[in-house]
Formats: sequence, C-alpha cells, structure tokens
Amino acid sequence: MTEAAVCPVPHENRTHPLGAPAGFEEALGNGPVKMLWPNGVEAWVVSSYAGVRQVLSDSRFSANKEGAPEMRTEGEQVLGLPEPGNMNVMDGDEHLRLRRPLSRAFMVKRLNEMRPRIQEIVDQHFDEMERRGEPADLVSSVCLPVPSLVIAELLGVAPEHQELFQATSREMFGKNGSRAEYEAKAAELGEVLAKVVEEKKASGSTDDLIGLMVNDTDFEMDELLMLAIGLLAAGHETTSNFFGLFTLTLFENPDQLAVLKRDPSRADVIVEELLRYTIGKLGGAGLARRALEDVEVDGVTIRAGDWVTVSSHANLDEQLCPHAGELDLERRAVPHLGFGFGPHQCLGANLARAELQILLRTLFTRFPDVRPAIPVAEMAFREDMITYGAAAIPVVWS
Ligand code: HEM
Repeated sequence: MTEAAVCPVPHENRTHPLGAPAGFEEALGNGPVKMLWPNGVEAWVVSSYAGVRQVLSDSRFSANKEGAPEMRTEGEQVLGLPEPGNMNVMDGDEHLRLRRPLSRAFMVKRLNEMRPRIQEIVDQHFDEMERRGEPADLVSSVCLPVPSLVIAELLGVAPEHQELFQATSREMFGKNGSRAEYEAKAAELGEVLAKVVEEKKASGSTDDLIGLMVNDTDFEMDELLMLAIGLLAAGHETTSNFFGLFTLTLFENPDQLAVLKRDPSRADVIVEELLRYTIGKLGGAGLARRALEDVEVDGVTIRAGDWVTVSSHANLDEQLCPHAGELDLERRAVPHLGFGFGPHQCLGANLARAELQILLRTLFTRFPDVRPAIPVAEMAFREDMITYGAAAIPVVWS
C-alpha cells in the first residue's frame, strides 16, 4: 500500500469565527489522515467518535508530549513538558498519584457548595457592567475576571494576584511566546504561590485546594507549584473563552436562544449541548498522544512511535447522536467529548459546568434583550492563543 499524502494541518483563516479553519473538514476525509504541524512534526488526526474515545482511553497511547506536534510556529515548546507536577503528560500510576487526591476537590458535592459564591461573583460583575452602561465588552467585564476569581478562590489564592495569573497563562497558551518569557512569568507566579504554601502549612488548613495539597498529600514542593500554575491556567483560559463562544453561538441561533429564555432552569442540559456543538464546530485537532506499539484505529494501523491527535469534530459524528451537525438545545445530554475522555478527562469539568450554567442563566435572565453591538463576523478573535476565543464581545441590552 502506498503512503497517504501528508497535508499541512489547516489552522488559520476560519471562514466564520465559530467554524473550523478553512479546509479542515475536507482534509479529515473519512478516516485517520496524516498532517504536518507548524513545528514540523507529522501526526495522524483521528476524527470519528469511536476512534477518539479509543485513542484517549487505550493505554497503548502515551500522554507524554515531549516533541509533540504543536501549533506554535516560533519559540520553543511550553505546554506538555515532562516537568514534575505536569499531570497532563503522565501515564498510569504516576498520573494517578497526582490526580486522585485532587479529584476530591472537584467532586460535584463540593462544587455544588460553591455555587452560591460563584453566583455572587457573577452578580457583582454583571452589576458593574450595568453600572458602566452600554455598550459593554462582555469579555473584559465578565468572561475574563469571573473564572479567574473562581479558580483563585478554589485554590485559596488572594484575588489581587489575578493579573499575574492571566499574564502567566497568556505566555503558557500563547502561540508566539518563547519558553524564556513563560519561565519568567511562571517564576514570578511561583514566588507568590510559595508564600501561599507557607501560609497554608502554618494554618494546617485543608479548606481550599492548595491547603489540601500542602497538608493532605505527599506532593513535593515543585510538583505542587506546577499543579497550582496548571490549574490556574486551565481554570480560567478555557472557561472564559467558552462562555464568550457560547454567547456568540446563541446570538447566531436566535431560535435556540429562545429555548434557553423559555426555560433557564434547563441550563445544565443546555450547557452540555453548547459544549458538544460549539467545540465540534470549531474543529481543529488537539490532545496529542503517542503510540507505544502498533495499534489499529478506524481501520488504519498506527505504528509504534507515531503521533496521533484527536479532532473535536468527533462531537458532530452521527455515531454520537442523530443530526449531530445541528445545535438542538432541546436534546437530552449526550456523552460528548468536549472535556476529553479516559484517564485525562478534564479534572475541572464540574467546575466549568457550574460556572457556565450560572453565567448563561444570569446573562439571559437579567438582560433578556442582550444582543451584539456589532455583527459577530466583524468581532476580533484571539488567533494568537492555543485556546481560541473572542478578543472582545461588544453588547447592548436596552
Ligand atoms: C469549558 C471549559 C473546559 C474545557 C472545554 C476543558 C477541556 C479539557 C480537556 C479536553 C482535557 C483533556 C486533555 C487531554 O486529554 O490531554 C482537559 C484536561 C484538564 N482540565 Fe480542563 N477544560 C475546561 C475547564 C477546566 C477547568 C475549569 C479546570 C480546573 C480548574 C480544568 C482543569 C483541567 C486539568 C487539571 C486537566 C488535566 C487532567 C489530567 O491530565 O488528568 N479544566 N480539560
């Protein structure tokens, strides 16, 4: 059999800001295809629902990302290095040792207890947005500060360090920064966190995540700092981008927005469908794994040593649900892959869900006529980040 042609991974120029990069869906074809990443690494892209679940849960694929395909065109690898405390690149027992104790902090019960406080933070930010008047930018007024404050509170870090978290994760998730710039910011944040760790040690508290890690686990100091930085970054970049993208998706689908407005108490199911559809539509390929031995996926043999990435387009696969390419907020929740799958499935999924449900319900009940102040197609988007999102969402509501 002849080797299939390897095309460059399409990653620029979305024809619609809520759609996949131009040519991406066509390039996926009917099965795993090999693509070339901007950093010169070739990787298979798997895009079927069953194939993605297999890659993310089969222990013959390692999560170690050293030398992985990357969207960065310049600079050196920042994400996914095998550092102590970077659980996202670990396999097996090494991964479980870090993940298991943290899972306690993200249990539904614990997060449900946090809901009133999340609501309070959300209300304060919408109060302030209203006070400042129209038009307002939803991104700077709400999308960015809310998740960042919530994760800082869950970790037990004072809100005045918020700008430093945002700067560190900009370096961590930025496509064009360098390893040196990221390390400088991470060192600054490390100093702040080291002080917090000392305070928690002295108090013996296990009420927040850093307290729990310091006083109730065997984590080493360097692991603990990396875990805290990773959680801060993961906890605010993704949720803030997705709240913005969900709002824009609803603006673009007024019949579906009407479903949310009719019954905002269904925000839990609605958030699941928005995750499935929005993430699926954005397409693209992420979540890299490396084959440890030859493995067959969707009829293709992936050789030991080959890189594989999974496409979020799998959320639109008819194997998952009928009419998967349509947004249907009356659909019952289906097991989408928005939070990944398998041992590395998003640790913060329940927190993200709680925040997104509260944010959406509050926005559209408090400002029932909220709408974009300029067409969505004319808004600016952050193409310079690995995590995609709107740079600003100007809105009016009266
Ligand atoms: C809408 C918001 C979010 C989305 C779409 C999302 C998505 C994901 C995905 C797809 C993965 C799997 C990565 C892989 O398999 O390599 C993941 C992992 C992870 N996420 Fe999230 N995430 C979100 C919010 C959060 C929040 C709020 C936190 C924490 C506060 C968080 C913490 C993590 C961590 C620690 C991991 C690594 C887990 C591991 O390797 O075992 N995420 N996330």
